[in-house]
Amino acid sequence: MTDIRHFLDLDVLDAATLRRILDTALALKSAAPTPARLPGCTLAMVFEKPSTRTRVSFEVAIQQLGGSAIVLDQGGTQLGRGETVADTARVLSQYVDAIMLRTSAPENLHEMAAAASVPVINGLTNDSHPCQIMADVMTFEEVKGPIAGKVVAWSGDGNNVAASWIHAAVKFQFELRLATPSSLQPAAGLLEWASANGGQVSLSDDPQAAVDGADCVVTDTWVSMGDKDAEARCATLVPYRIDTALMARAKDDAIFMHCLPAHRGDEVDAAVIDGPQSVVWVEAGNRLPAQKSILLWCLGQDGDDA
Ligand code: CP
Ligand code: NVA
Repeated sequence: MTDIRHFLDLDVLDAATLRRILDTALALKSAAPTPARLPGCTLAMVFEKPSTRTRVSFEVAIQQLGGSAIVLDQGGTQLGRGETVADTARVLSQYVDAIMLRTSAPENLHEMAAAASVPVINGLTNDSHPCQIMADVMTFEEVKGPIAGKVVAWSGDGNNVAASWIHAAVKFQFELRLATPSSLQPAAGLLEWASANGGQVSLSDDPQAAVDGADCVVTDTWVSMGDKDAEARCATLVPYRIDTALMARAKDDAIFMHCLPAHRGDEVDAAVIDGPQSVVWVEAGNRLPAQKSILLWCLGQDGDDA
């Protein structure tokens, strides 16, 4: 057992901790200037895959908290020449106060966390994207109030972002209705975990039924970083596109979310993502206070006055 505060996935963090991180993020958004609670702290960010939002929001977050960031692209480090993740973790732990990793294989994240003596943050793997979904739940609550008991509908690929929405549905107690093609469903174990933990998470191949009366409609790219079968995926996913007709089945005041980057005309029509129900820019902006709050929690500086 370790008492290092890793932020690896929403399913392994307790609901009270996640609620506290979320509430701190909301408070930080309205706190100006950001209290410099991490003076002299350094965050290393290791990217095996591209990033705009995660990279910039973490870098600005640590700067505004009084610290600094170092960005390491895989190709520019010895990781790219075969140095192990564990050895990299042991070394980086002696220079920096926290490590954020974006990687394909979740095993790399767990290897990093097992070997590091500082907190490790999941900046996206092929299996999950927990930092994103903290900003998403924050966005829902900022715009519409408490998420508990509300209905969120996912239409599209049952991918890493969908997985973290499943975790969030259990931890924040909202209903999640997923509609995915049978070939692109989330891992069965995720649904079993949700059910075993009292979650209201359902899965079908019917986007209309999923979206009917929902408070929030969410989707993501049809082709995630590293996916090889782009053409087949896009063909399979056409019925799951969020267009104005599908969006109209949700509540009149429903919101539309997308973690970005978006592909207009594929997973969402421009009329929806650029329309009045879309909150995607608030959502992207909320990555910043959400990352600040995650950093404060990881580094034990998440006091009530944060
Ligand atoms: N949503 C998200 O994580 O975006 P980036 O890939 O740009 O970080
Ligand atoms: N599902 C997408 C999310 C990008 C932020 C991907 O993994 O590429």
